[in-house]
Amino acid sequence: MAARDGIALVDRDAHGVDRAFRADVLEGLSQDQKALPARWLYDDAGSQLFEDITQVPEYYPTRAETEILTERGDEFAEMIGPDRAVVEFGSGSSVKTPLLLSAINPSAYVPLDIAGDFLREAASGLSQRFPDLAIYPVEADFMREVDLPTEVASLPKLGFFPGSTIGNMVPRTAVDLLRSMRLTLKADYGMQPMLLIGMDLVKDPEVLEAAYDDEKGVTAKFNRNLARRINRELEGTLPIDALRHVARWNDDFARVEMHLEATRPIRFDVSGKNFAMAEGETIHTENSHKFTRRSANLLLQAAGWSPRRRWLDRAKQFSLILAEATEPRNAP
Ligand code: AVI
Repeated sequence: MAARDGIALVDRDAHGVDRAFRADVLEGLSQDQKALPARWLYDDAGSQLFEDITQVPEYYPTRAETEILTERGDEFAEMIGPDRAVVEFGSGSSVKTPLLLSAINPSAYVPLDIAGDFLREAASGLSQRFPDLAIYPVEADFMREVDLPTEVASLPKLGFFPGSTIGNMVPRTAVDLLRSMRLTLKADYGMQPMLLIGMDLVKDPEVLEAAYDDEKGVTAKFNRNLARRINRELEGTLPIDALRHVARWNDDFARVEMHLEATRPIRFDVSGKNFAMAEGETIHTENSHKFTRRSANLLLQAAGWSPRRRWLDRAKQFSLILAEATEPRNAP
């Protein structure tokens, strides 16, 4: 059972396999356009490979966002004010989170993550750096409304969602998440919650495709690791050497798509089921949506957040947006 307050949030079968992973893979490979939810890219190997991606020269988002967090601290402090409880959706990055915490001097920090190990590791690292800050890690699936610790109930909240992870969701899921965030953060004593969110910007498709298909092949490895994971965990026989990493800009949906493309006709099994792919057929493994000022504002407003301020890095590649929860009926 997946138990919210218990030890396990992940529902595993007798072989220790995540049931949701198996179900998603079998369903996703049975569709006309094969597609797998991008969250399965992040097993231990995938999470490490993503860390490596953030270091490759072509992948600008992490550096750009870190630059904004480093250089605009005074402006965050002025707009956000002190003594909020910072609620981070995800267990936090060892680089970005301390930059925000030092800039705004909050009363409490609440990292939310489904992966308890990462959460505790991140929390203990931060408590050494900020010994006076109250830290309350919460193991939870933040795609739904989460009950925050009672200790922060009376504090005004700032949600923090860096990295443009929102871009990995299709708009419908992104709006659901942004709404859940608003419910999780709630208004306290009339102080509306705020949200500081990273959103990557639309730009030259060449720059975008290079960011998702780096020369060293780290992103290709990250993508192919999903096929390896299927082989490891679901008795799969996917021929890894016949799967080519493809990153392509889809202009209609303003997103970079990652696919695994069969370089020859292939047949394989997963959990005892047979599948086939023709040469050139793909498995769609990730979307990374990019935003304009207007599309970002529209997405936030659709979920009840009013954009208040937007910061860009010097090269104008990435945006950090501060939004405030909107009263339900404040529009004509
Ligand atoms: C985690 N996420 C915001 C990354 C992105 O840029 O969409 C994941 C990623 N995929 C390939 N490279 C990086």
